[in-house]
Amino acid sequence: MSSAPRSVQIKGTGSYTPQKALTNNDLSKIVDTSDEWIFTRTGIKERRIADENETSSSMGAEAGRRAIENAGLNIDVIDVIVVGTMTPDMPFPSTACLVQEKLGIKNAVCFDVEAACSGFLYIMEIASGLLQTGRYRNALVIGSEKLSSILDWEDRTTCVLFGDGAGAAVLGLGEEGDTAGIIDFKLGADGSKADMLHQPGGGCAIPPSTESLAGRQHFLKMRGKEVFKQAVRVMGQAAVEILEQNGIESDQLACVVPHQANMRIIESLSSRLHIPIERFFLNLDKYGNTSAASIPIALDEAARAGRIKRGDIILLVAFGAGLTWGSSLIRW
Ligand code: UT7
Repeated sequence: MSSAPRSVQIKGTGSYTPQKALTNNDLSKIVDTSDEWIFTRTGIKERRIADENETSSSMGAEAGRRAIENAGLNIDVIDVIVVGTMTPDMPFPSTACLVQEKLGIKNAVCFDVEAACSGFLYIMEIASGLLQTGRYRNALVIGSEKLSSILDWEDRTTCVLFGDGAGAAVLGLGEEGDTAGIIDFKLGADGSKADMLHQPGGGCAIPPSTESLAGRQHFLKMRGKEVFKQAVRVMGQAAVEILEQNGIESDQLACVVPHQANMRIIESLSSRLHIPIERFFLNLDKYGNTSAASIPIALDEAARAGRIKRGDIILLVAFGAGLTWGSSLIRW
């Protein structure tokens, strides 16, 4: 007799952000900007900056350790580790392997996924698929970024927007008949807009050289206004489509956890979905845009703050370089 499919559940969450906070006023001493400009255009007040010994793997490992602890599990039951990052410690080996070593986990499949700010939703879907094969028990999914290492600290149009940090979740199968868990995903990408937000140098197309360094090619570049318009369009679409596909009305959502890039983007999502902004979980004033770490840090803070309770339906929605985007509905 075949058994009913078991849902993939979030068993625990964790996050880690570096100690050092860099305020908008601090930034105004580095580039020609002001607290007033940054806050009114983005909603960001400060961001965390990793110290020189901290990396995506060390921050990711700490967030992962906290998620495993929160799940009440032992490390030996983690058999998949997936890291979403666009700032890996090094091109290879994967940051996931470095996290595995730091956590002392022995038997796990480890790999990274690069989907920029949508990375956490991408890795949740991939890890869920692995769990549903029945071959794995628990997956540690981590979004971790040291964006300060690829920011051009002479470019005021980008360096004021981003920050460092890591967030994680442990995914595992629920008991048969338990309806809590991931309801659905909707992911997408449009590679024709790859050059809107990218780091051109450092890979095999433009390997590090004296010329590439002098041309500042190894820094993040963004056409902010165009990215803004795309973000408003595709985040709205990803949210509306997943709600429609699952017959869920926006007023059934207890909480929306959006990618934390810009308050104005989130406000437009709020009006498109007819969901009051109070039902969105927001922490971008404290951390800025932490790319793949953004949603899992917010999810962890929302859960720990009691903003999400068992039985609640929540929506995650993200957008980033690639372009990539994604949404997910979860019954907590
Ligand atoms: O995860 C996804 C990643 N990216 C995003 O979500 C970013 C999406 N884009 C945005 O959030 C916004 O486009 C920005 C916040 C980046 C920029 O806001 P904007 O309202 O689109 O401003 P703008 O680029 O049109 O610039 C307006 C003015 C310009 O001066 P002029 O040409 O009007 O004289 C800029 O040079 O503001 C100037 N400016 C600044 N001034 C003070 C640009 N950056 C700064 C700055 N401080 N940091």
